[in-house]
Amino acid sequence: MLQAVSRDSLGDLYARYVNPQWVRLLDVMRMNVDYVRCSGAEMHAADGRVILDFNSGYCVHNVGHNHPRVVAALKDELDKSGPAIMQNRAPTLAGELAERLCRLAGGRLGKVFFASSGSEGIEAAIKFARAHTGRAGILCAGGGFHGLTCGALSLMSNDFWREGFGALLPGAEFVPYGDIEALERKLASKSFAAFVVEPIQGEGGVVVPSKEYLAGVQDLCRRTKTLLVLDEVQTGLYRTGPFIAAHHFGVEPDMVVLAKALSGGFIPSGAVLMSDAVCGSVYSSLKRALVHTSTFSENTLAMRAGLAVLDVLADERLGARAMSVGERLRRVLCERLTKYEMLGEIRGLGLLNGIEFKPPRSLKLRLAFEAFAKIHPALFGQVLVMRLFNDHRILAQVCGNNFMVLKISPPLTVDDAQFDRFVGAIEKLVELMHTSSAFWSEALGIARRVMRSI
Ligand SMILES: Cc1ncc(COP(=O)(O)O)c(C=O)c1O
Repeated sequence: MLQAVSRDSLGDLYARYVNPQWVRLLDVMRMNVDYVRCSGAEMHAADGRVILDFNSGYCVHNVGHNHPRVVAALKDELDKSGPAIMQNRAPTLAGELAERLCRLAGGRLGKVFFASSGSEGIEAAIKFARAHTGRAGILCAGGGFHGLTCGALSLMSNDFWREGFGALLPGAEFVPYGDIEALERKLASKSFAAFVVEPIQGEGGVVVPSKEYLAGVQDLCRRTKTLLVLDEVQTGLYRTGPFIAAHHFGVEPDMVVLAKALSGGFIPSGAVLMSDAVCGSVYSSLKRALVHTSTFSENTLAMRAGLAVLDVLADERLGARAMSVGERLRRVLCERLTKYEMLGEIRGLGLLNGIEFKPPRSLKLRLAFEAFAKIHPALFGQVLVMRLFNDHRILAQVCGNNFMVLKISPPLTVDDAQFDRFVGAIEKLVELMHTSSAFWSEALGIARRVMRSI
């Protein structure tokens, strides 16, 4: 007989049966918290703390945690007891959601393949691009993040993610993000099926390109018959203001990958929007009607959540809100923070923003910073994250491929009081790092503890 297991205490079972290192890291950072209720931008912990979510699950919670209209739609769907997943039919809700996504995205995007994650969407984009062009190569921008399945990982240049996993997809190559000449040289070979790029690099450090860059990219892709695939897994669903970030730059991609915010954080979901021609290259005959599918992709709850999320985003005008709150955020942060010597750029679009830190020039700060950087390049950023969390009860993260940039991406519903709480907290933290030797000595202590336990 199985023995009864007592209630999990802060990840014991998770550590034992899922991923012990993750629990250790959370413990070291004092971020291993039992959340009991989440609503909007607030996450309530069992110990009474209310943590503000300025990460949004890496741009999942655009409509906030547990939006009541999305919850109600899901409950309603469950009460109907209709088919949750059924392979041998054409699901009405998937058709409805696809139609709305294509209408919102516009341009040449007239068909959708539904996936269950961002990575799976990227995998599909690779296959569809190869099928359409008959070419095997995929060109990507260095420093991007596209997901950790083998195909998606092949499109990421950072060795940290690739190391230890053996040979990846042949034919994947990189050009520096923003470098139009390098792109032109590569595409001249006409051997690439697609150029895959984030319109704004999220994990790369919230890098916003010039309008000319993306227009130039589109032009080169068209001239060399290379498909332009935009990874809008983070930037889509009004995160940067318009429905997709492509609209900021006036480009019309051949494919767009969406995921994360699509189902309000409830059901794994992704969508690859594409032109009719690309879709027709894969589903090209009756015989090939099911040549690319995925069991869970069009499941009823994901589709219903997607429709409810689109309703909320439209009715609450969250795109316009992302634009205006984001602009105010960057302005206020610039006013309050740029006087500090470690502050680099404050940048972003809508509510996808980054605060960049840079090594200090003054001797006293430089010695402390360098001691720190010697231990590990990621530690400075992680100490910021820890202190924001533990001193100010705010969850934010550094960018996965650029540890000197703190990413600020609250739910698009963030209110004035939450905005002020964040601005006050980051201002105090930045002031502390510039004025208090205790900040650095404590941070060094934490850093050594972290390194000992790794
Ligand atoms: C830009 C981008 N693309 C793709 C992915 C992969 O998405 P998923 O984790 O849902 O597989 C991510 C995940 O963070 C992402 O940020």
